[in-house]
Amino acid sequence: MSSTAPFDTALVTGASTGIGATYADRLAARGHDLVLVARNKTQLESLAARLRREHGVKVDVLAADLTSPAERAQVEQRLRDDDAIGWLVNNAGMSGGGAVATAPIDTVENMLQLNVIAPSRLTSAILPRLLARGRGSIVYLASVLALAPEQSLGAYAASKSYLLTYALSLLKEVGDGGVRVQAVLPGITRTDLWARGGNDLNAIPAHTVMEVAELVDAALAGYDLGETVTIPSLPDIEDWNRYNAARLLLAPNLSHNVAADRYKSDIPEDA
Ligand SMILES: NC(=O)c1ccc[n+]([C@@H]2O[C@H](COP(=O)([O-])OP(=O)(O)OC[C@H]3O[C@@H](n4cnc5c(N)ncnc54)[C@H](OP(=O)(O)O)[C@@H]3O)[C@@H](O)[C@H]2O)c1
Repeated sequence: MSSTAPFDTALVTGASTGIGATYADRLAARGHDLVLVARNKTQLESLAARLRREHGVKVDVLAADLTSPAERAQVEQRLRDDDAIGWLVNNAGMSGGGAVATAPIDTVENMLQLNVIAPSRLTSAILPRLLARGRGSIVYLASVLALAPEQSLGAYAASKSYLLTYALSLLKEVGDGGVRVQAVLPGITRTDLWARGGNDLNAIPAHTVMEVAELVDAALAGYDLGETVTIPSLPDIEDWNRYNAARLLLAPNLSHNVAADRYKSDIPEDA
């Protein structure tokens, strides 16, 4: 099902821990060389050493803060120039500091840089090359909160909705040109993200929390199935298909030259 040669190099952002580190492990096991991106160089080097040893793949480390335009530019450059890179896993992300009224706006802006601007810029950097060679894969770690924003506070869910919408638009843009696009929508997953955001995972019902290996293995299985949207927790994919079909049903009526009757005054003009 994959339209990407098995040995294309994969660049994974947020690869020092959590979902990104597990993606790196699984992609290395599949035979991909890797470029690992995050801020913590020590953690990246240690993961890289293990992956080289265990899987015999080539692993480069590119330490960068993806909220810093200058550091992010180095990653963009690598994506533009390195012909071996055929996969981009946009995984790095952070939660957003809580409710709109109380979240420090600088924290919110930082989150938008990481969750929204960085994946957009990295996609723009790699896409022309992938389209030119007619092969490649771009993965976005969104969230189920893209579909259920009422379950969270502040701008985080909106940043994840952005990725889902972006992936669906991009899918249309790449057409049948051989470039795969996948949005992965994790539910609650046991990683450091929760503690980093000041939240206690132990306070959350255990049956709603997925282990990171389960999540990434399901995401890659969804990729292998050819899915554009992968929701690892969702038992019945028909639920997503029905939701998406209902959305598409709106499309023919979303732009007309007259407003709908309900917005027309029923008061006669000469009254
Ligand atoms: N865990 C969940 O429940 C859950 C649910 C839905 C969606 N997601 C999404 O899944 C993705 C991965 O989350 P996770 O749970 O694995 O989070 P995590 O354990 O906190 O890991 C986040 C990764 O991003 C990197 N990162 C953070 N800030 C960065 C920056 N400024 N520049 C570059 N890298 C940065 C971190 O490394 P450094 O600190 O070394 O930079 C780390 O490798 C995120 O996009 C998240 O929104 C997670």
